[in-house]
Amino acid sequence: MSHTKDTLDTLMKFTARTGFVYQGSEIYGGLANTWDFGPKGVLLKNNIKEAWRNHFVLSRSDMYELDSDIFMNSKVWEASGHTSTFADCMVDDKKSKHRFRADHLIEDQLDIDVEGRSPEEITEIIRSNKLKNPITGEAGDWTEARYMNMMFETNRDKIGNDPSQKIYLRPETAQGIFVQFKSVVQSERAQVPFGIAQIGKAFRNEITPGNFMYRIVEFEQMEIEYFIAPPENDEDWNTIFEQWLELQRSFYIDKMGISEENLVAKDHVTEKLSHYSKRTVDWEYKYPFGTKELSGLAYRTDFDLSQHAQTSGKDLSYQDPQTNQKYIPHVIEPSVGVERLVMAVLLEAYTEEDLGNGDSRILLKLPYDIAPYRVAILPLMKKDGLAEQAESFAQELRVKGISVTYDKSGSIGKRYRRQDEIGTPWCVTVDYQTLEDGTVTLRNRDTMEQVGENGRIAFTELDKYILS
Ligand code: GAP
Repeated sequence: MSHTKDTLDTLMKFTARTGFVYQGSEIYGGLANTWDFGPKGVLLKNNIKEAWRNHFVLSRSDMYELDSDIFMNSKVWEASGHTSTFADCMVDDKKSKHRFRADHLIEDQLDIDVEGRSPEEITEIIRSNKLKNPITGEAGDWTEARYMNMMFETNRDKIGNDPSQKIYLRPETAQGIFVQFKSVVQSERAQVPFGIAQIGKAFRNEITPGNFMYRIVEFEQMEIEYFIAPPENDEDWNTIFEQWLELQRSFYIDKMGISEENLVAKDHVTEKLSHYSKRTVDWEYKYPFGTKELSGLAYRTDFDLSQHAQTSGKDLSYQDPQTNQKYIPHVIEPSVGVERLVMAVLLEAYTEEDLGNGDSRILLKLPYDIAPYRVAILPLMKKDGLAEQAESFAQELRVKGISVTYDKSGSIGKRYRRQDEIGTPWCVTVDYQTLEDGTVTLRNRDTMEQVGENGRIAFTELDKYILS
């Protein structure tokens, strides 16, 4: 199903109402490009991260994990090129003092891609076309366009022998992996080819507001650096590249519930490749505001490790234990932002279903493994010991590590609807018969039907149904 502009509005209201995502600092009027995850959002996000780990790391024998610090020695960012080149071209409206990304301003109003153009050319395009300030709606009085670095910086006091220095909040998790490459090889006796995976926060001074969580200042990345021997020809690296591309595709489609029609693989044309990359493919998603990057896959050659070896003066080469050949490994990097993925997952799952006879329901068709709650326990009545029995069942499941919610208020019909809209795959109802024979009703979210013989199952057999 394709999404319209209205879908985004609906989704934002829905996620705030149901406790998935709230506007950041809302009681103070908010803070642009910041969002907070509510109770359901945290569960969903953690399940997505866990599914990513299972798919890309834990099910393979050639993967290691890392949790490197957000702050790193600023030389890291000199070596990676971020200090000098991680910048967007900005322009200010002198009248309103609003600042915009020049490429977005031009793209939105003229539909021209200005990547690679100089600030002077960009200024000329903005001024000669008398571009409007999209916030005020009036023609802007534009400053010269200029590049501004997107890294957030702060200052570190002198500690011991560490000099005081300017430090940065990392704009990607990848560099932490490169910097510890040698440590992982040594401590794990890791043999190429192998990968290092990391999930962690990244920060970028993004100034383009709107589009919900698409472009935010603080986000989480799930990145892998997959180290390979220097390829002898293009086919060598491209074969591995294609394998990772397929692994990403199957993750989005099979595990995240993204439909084939909304997922697009887009190869960067040579002129648009980053200086370090020989091939980059973005997985794009058809968001309500356009088909935009969800994640990336880049063949970064030996650029990063070579840069760090040169800047640090340390030997970051790898010695093949079989051939004794020494080399700097090349790297293939799959990378995705958790929030962009959460958005795509929610957009895919959100369904308004017409049930006929004037009845309807909102249904979040999340894949079962990532739904915030796997099961809801609902006592038919609060009295006669039904609530106590239901609570005790819920606790039994919690102890087993099954994510469960308990709801005793309102009619059963209303409670089913509440669970449908937060994506709970199974509802267990505890009734009078439960007290007699230990059986419960088990309702499936998507079919709304009760499973088991005569619509009942023994509570002791619940796992068989809900975990399959
Ligand atoms: N290490 C490579 C790297 O950082 P990137 O394309 O700049 O490459 C990787 O970022 C992914 O991180 C993107 O595909 C996207 O999912 C996510 N991402 C980047 N900037 C983001 C932002 N401002 N807000 C949310 N997610 C972002």
